[in-house]
Amino acid sequence: MFASTAPAVDQLYARVRRVIPPIEWPVFAEDIEAILALKRARNAVILAHNYQTPEIFHCVADIVGDSLALAREATKVDADIIVLAGVHFMAETAKLLNPAKTVLIPDPAAGCSLAASITAADVRLLRQRYPGVPVVTYVNSSAAVKAESDICCTSGNARKVVESLGAARVIMLPDEYLAQNIAAETAVEIITWAGHCEVHERFSAADIRSLRTDHPGVVVLAHPECPPEVVAEADFTGSTAAMIDYVGTHRPTRVVLVTECSMSDNVAVQHPDIEFVRPCNLCPHMKRITLPKIRRALETMTHPVTIDPAVAAHARRAVERMLAV
Ligand code: 13P
Ligand code: SF4
Repeated sequence: MFASTAPAVDQLYARVRRVIPPIEWPVFAEDIEAILALKRARNAVILAHNYQTPEIFHCVADIVGDSLALAREATKVDADIIVLAGVHFMAETAKLLNPAKTVLIPDPAAGCSLAASITAADVRLLRQRYPGVPVVTYVNSSAAVKAESDICCTSGNARKVVESLGAARVIMLPDEYLAQNIAAETAVEIITWAGHCEVHERFSAADIRSLRTDHPGVVVLAHPECPPEVVAEADFTGSTAAMIDYVGTHRPTRVVLVTECSMSDNVAVQHPDIEFVRPCNLCPHMKRITLPKIRRALETMTHPVTIDPAVAAHARRAVERMLAV
């Protein structure tokens, strides 16, 4: 095997041995041991998104999931400190739901191209242009944008949220492709915004067709942030959690997850008998979160997420309305 400098955590290597070479483990082991001790000392929990790397996802996270699950779980946390291993809007959502707790983001520069695509002033202008039309905002947005919205949604509940409003027309922000993909499933007319996920917009229908040629029989699962032409070529479309459920339930012999790269690694370790075809795109924002940064966050209590209380009250209402659907 190997000899790491943290033998107390070496048994955790079994969880990730399919995706992390033994030579790399000692580099991770020391930080893992320190993070596990810091979590106990600080009464902290780590919430990690499905796009986090396997050493975070499988070795230090307490709760893992898609954006919806992380938001839901954030309402149940009993610890004093939440470390959000994910991007900034996820940490903001956790803070909105836990105003009295300390929520730390290990790297505050972990942004999101969707969240960066729209401002609160943009939402106010849209409301002027479409008076009375409800605004559904994807959680991949800032608290300030959420505060201008009627309700939030995630990729896991977007259709349900849109239909829950009982309106003939809704404004859906900021992901144009998610909005178009939902529009294709519902009778509700959807007004879109031209925001895109920089990871999912790079997949094309031609990519999917060549995957099918190169890997006969492959089952194609796509995230709804992909362009509609990609979704049209896929066998199934759903949130990151829905893709994980699909793999576990249908157990395809060969599968491709048309999404961020770490997803396949994280799911593959649980299904050694399934072949994962691996074209994927990295999210540079998600990849800013590393074990050393999580360790530092817990050692130095950085970087605490703060939200202007006036903004937070309105943004919280939009998130809580979503959780009630
Ligand atoms: P999920 O809510 O499906 O996990 O998606 C979040 C995200 O950022 C996808 O790019
Ligand atoms: Fe944002 Fe896309 Fe990265 Fe998700 S994968 S955090 S939507 S840029």
